[in-house]
Amino acid sequence: QKGGYASFMAKEIHEQASAVADTLRGRIEDGKLQLDEMKIDEAVLRTIDKIVVVACGTAANAGAVVKYAIEHWCRIPVEVELAHEFRYRDPVVTEKTLVVAISQSGETMDTLMAVRHAQEQGAKVVAICNTRGSTIPREADAALYLHVGPEIAVASTKAYLGQIAACFLLGLFLAQVRGNLYPDEIAQQMEDLSAIPEKIQEVLDSSDQVERLALEMKDATSVLFLGRHVGYPTAMEGALKLKEIAYIHAEGFAAGELKHGPIALVDEGQPVFVIVPSPGGRDSLHSKVVSNIQEVRARGARTLVIAEEGDEAVLPYADEVIRYPRTRALFAPLLTVIPLQIFSCELATAKGLDVDQPRNLAKSVTVE
Ligand code: M6R
Repeated sequence: QKGGYASFMAKEIHEQASAVADTLRGRIEDGKLQLDEMKIDEAVLRTIDKIVVVACGTAANAGAVVKYAIEHWCRIPVEVELAHEFRYRDPVVTEKTLVVAISQSGETMDTLMAVRHAQEQGAKVVAICNTRGSTIPREADAALYLHVGPEIAVASTKAYLGQIAACFLLGLFLAQVRGNLYPDEIAQQMEDLSAIPEKIQEVLDSSDQVERLALEMKDATSVLFLGRHVGYPTAMEGALKLKEIAYIHAEGFAAGELKHGPIALVDEGQPVFVIVPSPGGRDSLHSKVVSNIQEVRARGARTLVIAEEGDEAVLPYADEVIRYPRTRALFAPLLTVIPLQIFSCELATAKGLDVDQPRNLAKSVTVE
């Protein structure tokens, strides 16, 4: 059943190219993005003035990635809320709020309660789910399924990529309905998104380096993860994976926060993963992240840098450079998280831990 892999998690990581291809399949018809599952009236979608994403854990990290994309494409403010916080703080939700509930299982109690709370205030809810017929998509006004197949390992990997890809579809669909992007811009974005599965496969095919690093760092006691823009939620997700399956203290930070506190943690030999945006994107962003690598290296950190192919600016400050293929800045999280997933999985395997069933955790948290 594990298809020759040491764990379901390893298998699911290696299924991610086809998983994302399945999420994206059959979406373009007559040059238009089709989301037949979006059962919410387009007239209503045109009145939306705020989007609130509610989710927990990895699903919330997926939400944090797509906030950047939806705000950029649709010019609608997007808030990302942990579902258990949302419910208890009297959030401002109206009939003009679109709530996006992301949940692999569709059964997470906190997310379900957030959905019910939002609907009571008159908001429409779109569920982004993997498990067909589960409670959250049944109660939502519309449901977009990931189609990534069952996810067995407690640590979410292929569902995370599917959640991001599905939310990208939702964002582009909203931009189409609301006229924020021209049809040819949407077609171009979709073409670039469709090229992602092949690039995911390239990342998976070059995992030797990360596997070696995982073995070398088997006894690490703390690992830090830094990123900016969409690299920030990627850093959070990298840290979450390492905590949950390898039981190593790990923290993800927005790299800009370093000097506001976290840099005090950096000492001789401290491993720090840094997710670097494309040098071809917003230049200031790339150079700021390169300065952050420099800052932690100057304090003795071992820098493990995830950088785009051909990015030479990182070389003087990187102890290791892990490459990812070129893509649009907003789509990079579908690639840059993969070495972090592999790192955690291999490290936990090397420690002899139960990768698929980590201690104290359940696949689906159906209690509050
Ligand atoms: O089924 P859900 O997507 O609602 O689950 C949410 C979280 O419990 C889940 O993502 C959890 O954080 C995973 N163990 C992460 O790998």
